[in-house]
Amino acid sequence: MKTLKTQIAIIGAGPSGLLLGQLLHEAGIETLILERQTPDYVAGRIRAGVLEQGMVDLLRQAGVGRRMDIEGLVHDGFELALNGQLTHIDLKSLTGGKTVMIYGQTEVTRDLMAARQAAGAITLYEARNVQPHDLKSQQPWLTFEHDGESFRLECDYIAGCDGFHGVARQSIPTEHVKVFERVYPFGWLGILAETPPIHDELVYAKHERGFALCSMRSPTRSRYYLQVPAEETVEDWSDQRFWDELKARLPAELAAQLVTGPSIEKSIAPLRSFVVEPMQYGRLFLLGDAAHIVPPTGAKGLNLAASDVSTLFNILLKVYREGRVDLLEKYSQICLRRIWKAERFSWWMTSMLHQFPEADGFSQRIAQSELEYFVDSEAGRKTIAENYVGLPYEAIE
Ligand code: APR
Ligand code: PHB
Repeated sequence: MKTLKTQIAIIGAGPSGLLLGQLLHEAGIETLILERQTPDYVAGRIRAGVLEQGMVDLLRQAGVGRRMDIEGLVHDGFELALNGQLTHIDLKSLTGGKTVMIYGQTEVTRDLMAARQAAGAITLYEARNVQPHDLKSQQPWLTFEHDGESFRLECDYIAGCDGFHGVARQSIPTEHVKVFERVYPFGWLGILAETPPIHDELVYAKHERGFALCSMRSPTRSRYYLQVPAEETVEDWSDQRFWDELKARLPAELAAQLVTGPSIEKSIAPLRSFVVEPMQYGRLFLLGDAAHIVPPTGAKGLNLAASDVSTLFNILLKVYREGRVDLLEKYSQICLRRIWKAERFSWWMTSMLHQFPEADGFSQRIAQSELEYFVDSEAGRKTIAENYVGLPYEAIE
């Protein structure tokens, strides 16, 4: 078995692992990333698309903001379509000037991969059987296989950035963690199409046929979603059926603007809320989807990954530069305060905008009334806006 050494071993080369790796590298702290998939697979995944200001700033700080600043679309607001009418949520005026950036997670990932390659930092793709060991000791280590060889990787700390199905969370003994979870009785069917977006801002639509979202990746590329029953499959949905259903869920005037075309990607994602506490076990830290999942309605998943990265990065800087190992045990509580607020907002947006098959008439009226109250009141719109643009990152001390 060959032995390798690094300061921070990172499991997973999604946005969490790559961004943490880039920030640490820029700060002179060595990392090695172990990723199960191939680079093409990682770079090809279509995921989120809305970046909060905090994440935009962090990407710039990591030196990977150049293409985002050229190609990203700054959005000052979004539309809620309720009862056949559009209501504008003016993020900028409601939050004293804050906005969001439309820039796909796919592009963020590509920029981070390119920066890591240019920096000469190592990512071992197609790493098999990654397994962390001795997490409670001063010298944790991992074993894995790569290119048919077995390796031992020794490190100071391990960052578990390996998503919801990864090995990091599972390597914490179950009696040390508590899981909080809600699974929703529906999923989102998403398509990507090389068509101009229906509107210049995102449109979140509540409709008795189910929720719909009109998003985009660029002025020529659209991303649309429909709420579908949890058991549905993409084979049930021809492009024509998708477009017809989308039109049926949008206000007529807006639907008339829809430009349709062949889908270039189509997939169904289940909706789930999930949090594990704490996010640390000895020298293992969980970040991003490895520790928490939000339903996509609030556009918070990717942004929460970024705030975890920011927190761990700032702590590790102090650990290596000032010997502040006492800060390590604050990681989980700092992250979880922000995560639970985003969990609440994502749950609320999901509950307000979707049709729940089991809801009785009273619950439906209450949800409708709650949403109308929020939308008709300036205080309500402010609450939606300040959560949507992203709550502030908490200082580490
Ligand atoms: N060994 C090595 N790598 C692994 C393992 C494993 N056992 N298990 C998973 N991975 C890799 C996956 O292949 C993936 O590339 O870890 C990576 C995790 O990436 P993501 O799932 O993208 O998670 P994260 O980086 O936390 O990104 C945050 O925000 O918008 C949301 O869900 C969206 O992925 C997004 C997330
Ligand atoms: C997306 O563009 O993929 C997207 C946008 C907003 C959301 C969720 C997904 O709330």
